[in-house]
Amino acid sequence: YNAVGILTSGGDSSGMNPAIRSIVRAALNSGVKQVFGVRRGYQGLVSDDITLMSSRSVTNIVQKGGTVLKSARCPEFSDPSVRDVAARNLSSRGIEALVVIGGDGSLTGAHILCQEHGIPVIGLPGTIDNDIPGTDDTIGFDTAVNTAVEAIDRIRDTARSHERLFLVEVMGRNSGFIATQVGIACGAEMVVVPEYAFDFHDLCITLAERHSKGQGSSGIIVVAEGRDPDLTHRLAAQLKAQGQDPKISILGHIQRGGSPSGHDRMLASCLGTAAVEYLLAGYSDIMVGVHKGAIVDVPLQRVIEEKKVLDRKLFDIAALLHK
Ligand code: F6P
Repeated sequence: YNAVGILTSGGDSSGMNPAIRSIVRAALNSGVKQVFGVRRGYQGLVSDDITLMSSRSVTNIVQKGGTVLKSARCPEFSDPSVRDVAARNLSSRGIEALVVIGGDGSLTGAHILCQEHGIPVIGLPGTIDNDIPGTDDTIGFDTAVNTAVEAIDRIRDTARSHERLFLVEVMGRNSGFIATQVGIACGAEMVVVPEYAFDFHDLCITLAERHSKGQGSSGIIVVAEGRDPDLTHRLAAQLKAQGQDPKISILGHIQRGGSPSGHDRMLASCLGTAAVEYLLAGYSDIMVGVHKGAIVDVPLQRVIEEKKVLDRKLFDIAALLHK
């Protein structure tokens, strides 16, 4: 390839910068003549907000959160005429292939662009949610988990001092990957996720048992934001009705920012390098991910069609260990 483009799209995640850096450098060091950065995801592709990048332009970003290319959600990209504009902008600059870093919506956009316009694309899983099928891990998940764990450790201190119960809401869109890992790592009294049924009665028994064992009334319940935006508040109201006085803490976007963890820097650097290798080997319409510690390629079609399952065993560990 003479010229390839990179874009980051959808909700940003910590590690997108080391991914950009590795793609730029791996491409330029493997004979690609030009690498272009598309700003603000698919929006920039449509508005032709595209800049030439160099090895120097990605200096000093390996440790930075967010994405230097900026990101956006671009619902207009579902319109074929908008995608025609994007394809024209790519070809007018001689950009022959695209690497897209983002979540399911972003990878869907890449797949359609490839199918419709024959543009070679490689996707990288970039989301804090870890909800992408075909890969065990996503860029930004580890950092988000660590951030939430640190926050909850702090909440635990005050919860214990005041013998209070806290409902801590974590992100994850419609999935409970963040909540489950965070729940285990923080020793939460309970984890509530969209994937598995939650029994309010069980929670009341757990709390009563803790109380009777002299473990006090402090505790942490980790709630995945899930499909129901009011779930955390409804749970709090139900607990109040049972005589508890729960506090709510919604961690929100702090989970998206901050310096990427060492793990995410490694993951992003390896996946970015692999994306270039796959592209130069003639692959297209795939996502590059990790499975059982090895780099794998997964057809984007499969990524889009499947749903990643939250390991029931992992979820059960969270319940088993708090007693
Ligand atoms: O997909 C990443 C994510 O942070 C989800 O966990 C969350 O539901 C959503 O994005 C929030 O999106 P926004 O930043 O657009 O409000």
